[in-house]
Amino acid sequence: MSGPSLKQLHAHHAIHEGGRAGAVQKIEYLKEVSKTGDLEKINQSVEDLIYYWENRILTHADSEEEENGFYQEVLQQKPELKEEVIALTRDHDILRIIIKKIKDKMKEEGFSDDIIFHFESLIIVNEIHSRDEEKLLLQDD
Ligand SMILES: [Fe+2]
Ligand SMILES: [Fe+2]
Repeated sequence: MSGPSLKQLHAHHAIHEGGRAGAVQKIEYLKEVSKTGDLEKINQSVEDLIYYWENRILTHADSEEEENGFYQEVLQQKPELKEEVIALTRDHDILRIIIKKIKDKMKEEGFSDDIIFHFESLIIVNEIHSRDEEKLLLQDD
């Protein structure tokens, strides 16, 4: 999803906030079902969260990094932001690493509170990343 909307602060911020709101809502649901001990519902909720992070948040990150995507457009206009783009790309990688850890842990150990902690860390890393991206790469429209 490149195109003009990612270059506009207001629209891009709205995408970040929409993504965050959904992730917060889904983790609240996971916390609730985890208290019931209903493993089928817990596993479904974890699957749903993984799907959400991969298809809503990571696809946004992928599109920013892709050939002729947002980051490359920024660099064409302001090559001096190279270090910032490298740092922001590393933030995306940290999200990818944590999501992979969640999937591996679910496969190897199954659900535990540790899975919730990992999903919460995703929200925190993503929030720091989003604010930095807005501050460093986007101006008021
Ligand atoms: Fe990003
Ligand atoms: Fe973004």
